[in-house]
Amino acid sequence: MDAKIAEAKREIAKMDQAATSADSFMRRLVKLLHNRMLKYNWVGFYMLEAGAQPPTLVLGPFEGEVTSHTHIPLNQGICGAAVSGGKTLIVDDVSQDPRYLACSLETQSEIVVPVFAHGKVVGELDIDSHSRAAFGNEDRELLEYCASLVGRQLEKNN
Ligand code: SME
Repeated sequence: MDAKIAEAKREIAKMDQAATSADSFMRRLVKLLHNRMLKYNWVGFYMLEAGAQPPTLVLGPFEGEVTSHTHIPLNQGICGAAVSGGKTLIVDDVSQDPRYLACSLETQSEIVVPVFAHGKVVGELDIDSHSRAAFGNEDRELLEYCASLVGRQLEKNN
């Protein structure tokens, strides 16, 4: 495994053990991923708004440039598609994906990983990179691990 990814994973496991709430864990997690992983230029959570009709993702803790996309309906964006399909989406070149909602002109690739709690999608972890095709299998594994920890933290709290 890539040494940086292995080290990040160890730190994240420790952070999870020490977490006192899902919210504080999510805040620390986006900071760690943004600071440690050089190609992760924007790191943030979008969470499904309880009871909203139509169902909408709302921006949660994030690190990186401020985005105008604070609310994303499920039929829009790569974010909406990942939550609707309940599966991780990796887009190597966002300029070639008609679903893409631009946050920054510098973004070239994106990964979106759904977060599940009690067996249901409750939100997602979204990461943008200024590098093309920045996200490989090891990134996917790391980020799916992060999403599973967040899901467990949310289950504990709710
Ligand atoms: N690019 C996302 C929108 C969120 S920003 O990346 C922060 C999308 O296409 O859904």
